[in-house]
Amino acid sequence: MKNSDRILSDKSILDVFSGESGENPFPIFAKMRTMGAVIPIPSPMGEKDRQTWMVTRMEEAMQVLKDHTQFTVDGSSMANNSSIWQNNADPSAPPTFLTAKSLVSVDEPDHRRLRRLVSKAFTPKYMESLRPRVQEIADELLDQVQQRGEMDLVKDYAYPLPINVISDMLGVPQADRTKIRGWSEAIAHGLGLGRKDPGVAEQIRAFGEYIVQLVAEKRQHPAGDLISQLIAIEEEGDRLDEAELISMISLLIFAGHETTPNLIATGTLMLLDHPEQLKKLKANLNLVPAAVEELLRFNGPSTMAGPRFATEDIELAGQQIKKGDMVIPVLKSANRDELQFTDPEELNITRTIKRHLAFGQGIHMCLGAPLARVEGDIAFSTLLRRMPNLRISVPREDINWHFMLSSQGLTSLPVTF
Ligand code: HEM
Repeated sequence: MKNSDRILSDKSILDVFSGESGENPFPIFAKMRTMGAVIPIPSPMGEKDRQTWMVTRMEEAMQVLKDHTQFTVDGSSMANNSSIWQNNADPSAPPTFLTAKSLVSVDEPDHRRLRRLVSKAFTPKYMESLRPRVQEIADELLDQVQQRGEMDLVKDYAYPLPINVISDMLGVPQADRTKIRGWSEAIAHGLGLGRKDPGVAEQIRAFGEYIVQLVAEKRQHPAGDLISQLIAIEEEGDRLDEAELISMISLLIFAGHETTPNLIATGTLMLLDHPEQLKKLKANLNLVPAAVEELLRFNGPSTMAGPRFATEDIELAGQQIKKGDMVIPVLKSANRDELQFTDPEELNITRTIKRHLAFGQGIHMCLGAPLARVEGDIAFSTLLRRMPNLRISVPREDINWHFMLSSQGLTSLPVTF
């Protein structure tokens, strides 16, 4: 790309990673798509020895996400790489997914082995069986605020709902949930690509030490929960080692905390921002599952997939990618690709969506997608059924966003009903 062709400054591109672009990175993504399906960007990690690329359109993003032989998540296999997250962690800390081998950092054959061990617990069928419990949690949360006529939708509903569901599944004691939320939030806030916030290493260590202790307790008192099941697999022998076990549990806790809350909170705000869509939905709650898909497409929680690394020199959308280059599929941009969607910048809950990339694609596609869908369905249906007069109770411009890891979320959403 010639300098004269550069429509965006390096700063505005890097702001997408750091979260400085705030609530609305979509105009930047739209400009990026006009620049190309694959564009070179300054390295968010500040590296000089390899190029970083952003993938802005769906077809090319799918290609990168699906082809795990040419594009690997395992940066440690690259001569010029140190893992992007490891820089933030203390190597003597227990092995969380940020430092040890986990689903998100390995490809075949380890990935298949690890994923098979947990995928039975995340089938759509099993998730459907959780519906009554998810419904109960949603109702309990709204019972607590119903009389007040107001709540902070983030703190009172969007966060606790998925956290209680995943904690029940994993067998995380009720008394520990606030503590875990604190660690998980601090880690996510401090870990944007290229960020190294002070204190994150201690949070990662505390989180890891907690899981080691939880595993020790469950070893002594096994129950029917997922952590106890994983311990039983580890004790059987060669299918899961201790570091992988701790790392897997840390990933499941973390992933369940930092994603679905954003779907519920941001999704609600998007509906409030589009009153005609909200009206349509309230008039027919059977549209909720379709609305969830459109909310995921329109402004889903994950801005981008984890970085991939080219395993060989390859041409992609006319760009010469070199072995070892970092390639980042920008999911929120691909989900507004004009070549795939009619009026992509419009929220339309009755749109027929062939596919979106909010949960990624390929072997690393979100394990928790069936769970997130059930949670989203119940969260929106229950909220709109019980609180049809939902309104934002502060000026719209006072709503604050924060940036975590690779996603944006609302800090709070005060509402009346
Ligand atoms: C709306 C909610 C969610 C969204 C938008 C979301 C998004 C994603 C995305 C985009 C990926 C792929 C990342 C990549 O390829 O680099 C992913 C992977 C993953 N997600 Fe989710 N996620 C959500 C909820 C959950 C939940 C509730 C869990 C449950 C524990 C979960 C667990 C995971 C795991 C374990 C992976 C790694 C899978 C692998 O590498 O094989 N996610 N998620």
